[in-house]
Amino acid sequence: MKDTAATDHILTDLAEGILTLRFNRPEKKNAITLAMYTTLADALQQADKDDSVRAVLITGTDGCFTSGNDVADFLNNPPTGDSSPALRFLTAISRAEKPIIAAVNGAAVGIGVTMLLHCDLVYAGASAIFSMPFVNMGLCPEGGSSLLMPRMMGHQRASELLLLGETFSAQAAHEAGIVNAVCHDGELPKTALSKARRLAAQPPAAVRVAKSLLKNDYAETLVKTINAEGACFIELLRSPEAIAAMRTFMERSKPDFSIFS
Ligand code: COA
Repeated sequence: MKDTAATDHILTDLAEGILTLRFNRPEKKNAITLAMYTTLADALQQADKDDSVRAVLITGTDGCFTSGNDVADFLNNPPTGDSSPALRFLTAISRAEKPIIAAVNGAAVGIGVTMLLHCDLVYAGASAIFSMPFVNMGLCPEGGSSLLMPRMMGHQRASELLLLGETFSAQAAHEAGIVNAVCHDGELPKTALSKARRLAAQPPAAVRVAKSLLKNDYAETLVKTINAEGACFIELLRSPEAIAAMRTFMERSKPDFSIFS
């Protein structure tokens, strides 16, 4: 076992061929900072080059997966272009060659959900709560979600989750196809680890080829979509609507969008 974390907010551990990446910023509900994105992107790219990594497991701390992008970072250090750490992470996870399993406990918000669309197996604890409040925050879908979600669940169900941005249960995430299975909260680590072990024991070249073929049909469009969404997202981050929404989150008040045209 070794620990290669570049930031304490992402714990990395390699054991039995499984690289575990754990969000570890519980005091901020595992909100993802620029440094955390960089650590995640580096770890995923390194995993593809490391023969000893057979599978990657992404998980959170007790009672929380991740509350998504750090809203203070959105306000104070907004991404400005293609080289933003968040985009690097999304590109890395969407192109990862090694199989990725996610174990979702507690809240999964924003990019905490869109990253799941790039994972190969996703398990959730029964009390996990999902939401993609991009529009609610004056922003737009990211991470390829505007392409992958309608493919996965149809236009209307994707619109419901992306335009209304309401929270939905682990069972609803399962029905929408985002989650493979829902288990008792206490069983989640064991369930996800046993699937990761099974993947790690499979013939690695066959797993890589099969994963690549599963995504072959839309791989090119996905890259274009992630970049197009990223450009809109960066522009919207500077909009009065988004700034108002993010400030009200930080101040724990409610935004009033009726003043915007
Ligand atoms: N960015 C920055 N700080 C965040 C955060 C985020 N994404 N999510 C939570 N936090 C902080 C809160 O500001 C609070 O900090 P404080 O204790 O210094 O005031 C702390 O984490 C605890 O969060 P709180 O909201 O009090 O916890 P909760 O259990 O009531 O709710 C969530 C948890 C995850 C449901 C709620 O925090 C939330 O909805 N966060 C999502 C934020 C968001 O919109 N993300 C980006 C979407 S594009």
